[in-house]
Amino acid sequence: MELQEAIRTRRSIRCFLPEPVSKETIQELISDSLWAPSWFNTQPWEIVVVTGEPLERFKRENKKALLSGQTSIPDIPMPKKWPEAQKKRSMDLVESIFESLGIDRNNAEGRVEYYTRMYYLFDAPSLILFLIDKGLSLEYAMLDVGIFLQTFSLLAHNKGLGTCAFSGTVHCPEIVHRDFAIPDTKLLVIGVALGWPDVNAPVNNFVRERGKVEEFVKWLP
Ligand SMILES: Cc1cc2nc3c(=O)[nH]c(=O)nc-3n(C[C@H](O)[C@H](O)[C@H](O)COP(=O)(O)O)c2cc1C
Repeated sequence: MELQEAIRTRRSIRCFLPEPVSKETIQELISDSLWAPSWFNTQPWEIVVVTGEPLERFKRENKKALLSGQTSIPDIPMPKKWPEAQKKRSMDLVESIFESLGIDRNNAEGRVEYYTRMYYLFDAPSLILFLIDKGLSLEYAMLDVGIFLQTFSLLAHNKGLGTCAFSGTVHCPEIVHRDFAIPDTKLLVIGVALGWPDVNAPVNNFVRERGKVEEFVKWLP
């Protein structure tokens, strides 16, 4: 796949097929992603690959935590408020998702069911968790992880795989720390679901929006 085409056609996948992704494939994706740039080549990412029974347990625990309304403190604080432009984009996204699923504004039950499925990682057969050490310069280490994440997502897309970065995987970091024996000196940044996309699912096909170049760029001169 051409790089430009890969960048333009990669999209977040929210409905996966049950087929697993082989360990060799995940290994190759990570091995190639390690060529992502990082601050002074510090390569601050730490990666946990979760599949099989540990993943099923994680999905169950994550869903339970959501449904119980348990208050949790993410390792990296989540944004509480957005400026208007960002708020509108996120609300437009949510509406596009629900519209594709035929869940209308008044269907509170449908929306809860959707979020429940989200915490179940839309049935993805693998989860890649990204962590950084507490002792690092967090902002820059997170920037590096972000670059890794996009590299990984594009390489996965190039193989016909789908990914979705999920804030829903880091709401309850205590599950990860406890069940995967991750010490508290490590911060859970983000989890990425990985699997084969259901290419026919409407939720994987709605039209996505992006701002125009003029909205983001100041040219000099
Ligand atoms: C850090 C991060 C967290 C995200 N968390 C979620 C999430 O919790 N649920 C979800 O459906 N999508 C999540 N996404 C996916 C974004 O919604 C998606 O990237 C954005 O809408 C742009 O769409 P695209 O990836 O399809 O191009 C997340 C993306 C990032 C980078």
